[in-house]
Parts: sequence; structure tokens; C-alpha cells
Amino acid sequence: MLAEVTATRYITPLREGGSLPGLVEGDDLHTYVMKFTGAGQGRKTLVAEVVCGELARRLGFRVPPLVTIALDPVLGLGEPDREVQELLRSSGGTNLGMDFLSGALGFDPLAFAVDPEEAGRIVWFDALVNNVDRSWRNPNLLMHRGDLWLIDHGATLIWHHNWPGAESSAARPYDASDHALARFAPDVEAAAAALAPLVTVDLLAEVAAEIPDVWLADEPGFDTPDDLRRAYARPLLARAAVIHQRITGIEGSK
Ligand SMILES: Nc1ncnc2c1ncn2[C@@H]1O[C@H](COP(=O)(O)OP(=O)(O)OP(=O)(O)O)[C@@H](O)[C@H]1O
Ligand SMILES: [Mg+2]
Repeated sequence: MLAEVTATRYITPLREGGSLPGLVEGDDLHTYVMKFTGAGQGRKTLVAEVVCGELARRLGFRVPPLVTIALDPVLGLGEPDREVQELLRSSGGTNLGMDFLSGALGFDPLAFAVDPEEAGRIVWFDALVNNVDRSWRNPNLLMHRGDLWLIDHGATLIWHHNWPGAESSAARPYDASDHALARFAPDVEAAAAALAPLVTVDLLAEVAAEIPDVWLADEPGFDTPDDLRRAYARPLLARAAVIHQRITGIEGSK
């Protein structure tokens, strides 16, 4: 289970984020980037953040720690901005938070170099979860104290939007031609050799256990949250074994 905090203060919106994430203070006095259940695609975006963030962390990537944030919509009453007010009003209950990396800079592929080994690991991971949101236009990578951190995994796991077609959807290749790290000769073969064996049934069960029950309730075709958790694990297990052979758009790959 993710740690739980309660929002005590809405600080400011992060205007560059399409889904209008905000900075909030928790009752533990930490500052979090908060993603709202009432935003855009709703709770599935948050489930994808948890599955990918917690999987990436267990595979050795740097990902800001995730928490759940309980929100009382009353917090929105004093907000002058109507859009923010609406978002807070429609997001009562359990939301997602991640540690705010103070002073982090957005990764710029023209200003920083990444070695082929690290680039390969990140491209391989993005292929595994089918991340379509790590392009050179919008890398969703932060530089923090000299290291690369992964953020923003809401636009992944496309198969969870249509469970009956999940198996065939997850068998599709990954086009990395737009990937922010495609220019760094990513060594996806080495990444697959190191990381694929770590993606086991047990690891995926541990990851899926982190998804809050409330975001899994009432999914058509599933009787219990745990049934749905197993459905999250299956395509990732299948994809881990083969996806390095199905990455297109980078030098040296098919
Ligand atoms: N943990 C963090 N620490 C510091 N800054 C962050 C963090 N998470 C997000 N940000 C900043 O906020 C911006 C928006 O966050 P994020 O990309 O997660 O939101 P989004 O609404 O999903 O964005 P997008 O426009 O890419 O769909 C990031 O580009 C980054 O500048
Ligand atoms: Mg983003």
C-alpha cells in the first residue's frame, strides 16, 4: 500500500501539465505534486502512474516516491481560479501524489547527453508499458542533482482502456522514433537482458497491490479489485519477454 497523506493546502497549479496537476501541502508538511481523480481521463491515468511508477522503481529507475492524497473538496472553495475550483470540487477522496523534486529541470535532449546503457533501459521500459508520452517535444524526464528521473506515466498501458482487446493490443510493437532518447543509441538489447528477467509474476503482483482499491472498483467484466490487478499484470508479463524485438524507430533496431 502506498503511504497515505491528507491535503491541507492547495499551493499552485503546475501550468505546464496538460491535466493541471497542482502543488499541495500534506498533513506531513511535505510538498507534493498532486494528480486529481477529477481530471481528464480520470482514475485510469492515476492507476497507470502507480503501476508504471512502482514497477520502474523496482527495476532500479529513479521515480519520485508516490503517495495517496485524501482531498476534502472544501479546499477548493477559496480558489480564485474557476478551473482549479472545479478540479478540486470533482476530486474528493483518494488522489495521487508524488514527491516534489525541488529545483529539478526539465530534461533537454539538446543540452544533456545520456549514455547508451541508460537510454536503452529507459526506452526498453517505455516500450514495455507502451509510453507514448516521452517524446523529444515533451520528455517527461527531470534532471535532479545530476540524475535523470522519470515522471508522468499517465499515458501508458493503452490496453487498460479496452480490456476485452488487451491481449492483441499488448502484442503490438512500440515505435520509438519520437522518443526523447532515440538519438542516444539506446542499447535495448542489454536493457532487455538485464531487466526482463526481473519482471516476474511475483514482482507484478507486488506492484499491482499498490493500486488503491477505490480506483479498481466497478470495472466492467471484473468481479473484484484483485481480478483487475491480475489483468494489469498479464500483458506486462507477456510483453517483457518479447518487446525488445518489437521496438521500431531507433538505429540498429527493427
Ligand atoms: N515530482 C515532480 N517534481 C518536480 N516537478 C514536477 C514533478 N512532477 C511534475 N513536475 C513538473 O510539472 C510538469 C507537469 O507534470 P506532468 O508531466 O506529470 O503532468 P501532465 O499533466 O501529465 O503533463 P503532460 O502535459 O505531459 O500531459 C512537469 O513537466 C514538470 O515540469
Ligand atoms: Mg508531462
